[in-house]
Amino acid sequence: MDAKELREKYQQFFESKNHKRIASASLIPENDASVLFTTAGMHPLVPYLLGQKHPLGNRITDVQRCIRTGDIDEVGDDTHLTFFEMLGNWSMGDYFKEEAIKMSYEFLTNILGIPHEKLSFTCFAGDDDAPKDEEAASIWKSLGVSEKRIAFLPKKDNWWGPAGQTGPCGPDSEMFYWNSDEKAPEAFDPEDDRWVEIWNDVFMQYDKQEDGSFVPLKQQNVDTGLGVERVAMILEGGKTVYDVSTIKPIYDLVSSLATSTVLPPDEKEYSIRVITDHMRSATFILGDERDVVPSNVDQGYILRRFIRRSIRHLYLLKATEDIPLHLENIASKVIDIFGGTYTNLFEKKEFIFSELKKESEKFISTLERGLSLVEKEMTRRMFGEVTLAEKNKDTIEKAKQEWFPKKKSVELTGKWLFDLFQSQGMPPEMTLEEVKNSYNATISNEKEALEEFAKEFEHHQELSRVGAEKKFKGGLADDSIATTRLHTATHLLNEALRKVISPDIKQKGSNITAERLRFDFNFDRKLTDEEVKAVEDMVNQQIKANIEISKEMMKLDDALKSGAQSEFGIRYPQEVSVYTMGAFSKEICMGPHVQNTSELGKFKIVKEQSSAAGIRRIKAVLEDN
Ligand code: ALA
Repeated sequence: MDAKELREKYQQFFESKNHKRIASASLIPENDASVLFTTAGMHPLVPYLLGQKHPLGNRITDVQRCIRTGDIDEVGDDTHLTFFEMLGNWSMGDYFKEEAIKMSYEFLTNILGIPHEKLSFTCFAGDDDAPKDEEAASIWKSLGVSEKRIAFLPKKDNWWGPAGQTGPCGPDSEMFYWNSDEKAPEAFDPEDDRWVEIWNDVFMQYDKQEDGSFVPLKQQNVDTGLGVERVAMILEGGKTVYDVSTIKPIYDLVSSLATSTVLPPDEKEYSIRVITDHMRSATFILGDERDVVPSNVDQGYILRRFIRRSIRHLYLLKATEDIPLHLENIASKVIDIFGGTYTNLFEKKEFIFSELKKESEKFISTLERGLSLVEKEMTRRMFGEVTLAEKNKDTIEKAKQEWFPKKKSVELTGKWLFDLFQSQGMPPEMTLEEVKNSYNATISNEKEALEEFAKEFEHHQELSRVGAEKKFKGGLADDSIATTRLHTATHLLNEALRKVISPDIKQKGSNITAERLRFDFNFDRKLTDEEVKAVEDMVNQQIKANIEISKEMMKLDDALKSGAQSEFGIRYPQEVSVYTMGAFSKEICMGPHVQNTSELGKFKIVKEQSSAAGIRRIKAVLEDN
């Protein structure tokens, strides 16, 4: 069975269970300004999940196109895509857990023929908002599922919705497939990524309010979502989503354009995957019934990012002879594959091509400016500090001829790489490659320059994140509360590392999303399990200690003299804000922070790994107590 048949078989199966089929809605949500794209099949159905009567009854099935920009950093791995298709079935005040779970199981094992031994399940572990979902677990068990193949996980994993800030949501139960040639282990380990999530049954019983509280819904609903690409990967026998019949022809076309002989194979593969993913998304956004064009705001901005990132990766692959034509050919492939199902794509073909052309021409001209800045810098290096005006064309040519055959070693700064990235959109890898290939140079400090670039980049991101939080204050309430809590947790972690591991530890970078914090610090070996546990414990003690957080404006010198921690390599303004958490921690920081450490929940380190030479990286989350 391939992806196309899967779409059809699924909807037929649910029709046989008295569901009515509806068409896929626009990728741009109609009634919800708090999200840019339709991220799940339930999105267009929100009014009916809240109690309005659907004209086709209370059982619905469909295939919905979705975009999840939150997954953009994961793109390039085997299973994450920004654009994907979601099959779903809904009960709007009709059946509930038992029937939903039994139908999911019947479809997976009977219709798709997936062996029982290759499946595992998760259920909600329970908290103050809703109880542990023993009921869902016992239904799975009644189907012969062993207890060892059922994991109970907290809200972070087993709660779905609302899609925006408010609306229907509830505990869920997810189905996982063992995607490996090795025999599936007897016990399920949700941390083992050979278990791939394929389907989610959400039991929607709550309506999340603006104040964060959960009010029971008038009716009990079921909302399910099955990822077409992931399940097709299994059915078609592929190892990654790029093997799937709705993606492979695009991937193959992109691969055939790559002419770079210097890009290492894993980087080449990464670039091909990114272009394949992003061009699917770009084509679908341009092909949507709402006319979105590349711009600097909202959906247009995301579209611009997809197109520009694709172009940058085409440069890395050295597929540069006619980029507008390449993009048109890739989009054309997407339209060939999907136009039969999503007819808008065919209808808007010319519009898609012309917008891609316009955007690529705009972007290429800035990139070309970047390349000419590289040329200017390299010319300066060939002639020392003498200005070009003092040289005539012949001497320049002569110097070039002398320079080129001897492989020269040059040193670059991360700052220069970052300036080119910032002003012209030149990715550092592209700059390095240009220097190496066009000037026959080796770079003596490549690793250090890239590390310095990464630092500049993260610092910049941190600044824009704070800016964005201010801008959206109130608007993206959920995300900003989550990131604020993680921001405070970062200070506690920073200090705990110094107290538990070594007083010489300094922050070397930080990045925070609504889901997790990431913290880089100088240390030259892996932390032991005991050390990780001791750091976690110390942070959790400080959370439990109920410490008020105070903020004070100080002159930079005074702040440093007072012992406030600062991040290595950051240029601070003369007047800084200093956040103090009791006697435990004092740091120069822009904030924002929560008012009391007790607001943080439970701190947990999920990963400790190397980030660069002498730099360790910790990823940590806050779980609800
Ligand atoms: N809305 C649920 C999800 O996206 C089914 O996982």
